[in-house]
Amino acid sequence: MNTSPSADTAPFSPQSAPLPVPQPVPSSVPQTHGAHQVAQTGIMRPSPVLSARGLLQSYGTGGTTTRALDGVDLDIARADSLAVMGPSGCGKTTLLHILAGILTPTSGTVLHEGTDLASLGDRRRTRLRRSDFGFVFQDGQLLPELTALENVILPRMLGGTSRRAATAEAASWLDRLGLSGMHDRRPTQLSGGQAQRVAIARALAGRPSVVFADEPTGALDQATGQSVLQILADSCRDNGAALVMVTHDAQVAAACRRTVTMQDGRIAQEFVRPAATAGTTGSHRTDGATR
Ligand SMILES: Nc1ncnc2c1ncn2[C@@H]1O[C@H](COP(=O)(O)OP(=O)(O)OP(=O)(O)O)[C@@H](O)[C@H]1O
Ligand SMILES: [Mg+2]
Repeated sequence: MNTSPSADTAPFSPQSAPLPVPQPVPSSVPQTHGAHQVAQTGIMRPSPVLSARGLLQSYGTGGTTTRALDGVDLDIARADSLAVMGPSGCGKTTLLHILAGILTPTSGTVLHEGTDLASLGDRRRTRLRRSDFGFVFQDGQLLPELTALENVILPRMLGGTSRRAATAEAASWLDRLGLSGMHDRRPTQLSGGQAQRVAIARALAGRPSVVFADEPTGALDQATGQSVLQILADSCRDNGAALVMVTHDAQVAAACRRTVTMQDGRIAQEFVRPAATAGTTGSHRTDGATR
């Protein structure tokens, strides 16, 4: 079934205005605790929807241990957006999976609206992930035996939404992401970029309070990537959802108000974008992204 998008799902025109270089936080602010930097700059933010403290993650045992996270503190407010950047292997995906409750850290805590994820049993954590978190995985992770539409409606129906409502909602999101006419295709009948957009529709359909996206535009050409990114950022802001997005691309990170760069499992730096430019995409210099 194909349902027309509602007025609030009108197609997006990517913005092309150049953006100023992201502003590093003042040098008087310590460079190791991103969340606190924002507080110390005096910018008032609403109470965080997610708070992480002292996250450590080690993989393996004995001589083959990898320290993927080495003391990460982070606060993320509703309707705020955070890009996570850094070299391959620095711990970005690990951080996202821990923040989303997919992975339990070796030590440290993650609070969702004040509730420690570790205090929830498996069932409650699954329910939380289904109702409050949307996740776009680095490799898409669509179910191959389901159509695009079914991939989007499945988590909604598992969460208790009727098939009819979930279908209308899913069709609207797929259309908005440029996939009208492809609702009945299976993932193997879609290009990598189309499959990634189905995964984005699936993450947004439940109007979660936090959307996690791991390189959401990695498989898309630049124009499609910009358009999809803007839909992702606008939808999160309009829904009051926080967006936490991993990317290697400074232009993609420009869609977010904040950018943290990671190095060897730690947050090395944080940049806060001026309010006037936060949430817009477009070309901008990347030489200010790191110092
Ligand atoms: N399941 C695992 N078992 C062992 N080591 C792992 C596992 N998952 C990740 N690692 C290691 O932890 C480190 C961080 O991995 P992670 O996937 O978080 O990096 P990343 O920053 O997302 O990298 P990329 O940009 O390549 O996706 C890497 O050294 C990786 O090899
Ligand atoms: Mg990764």
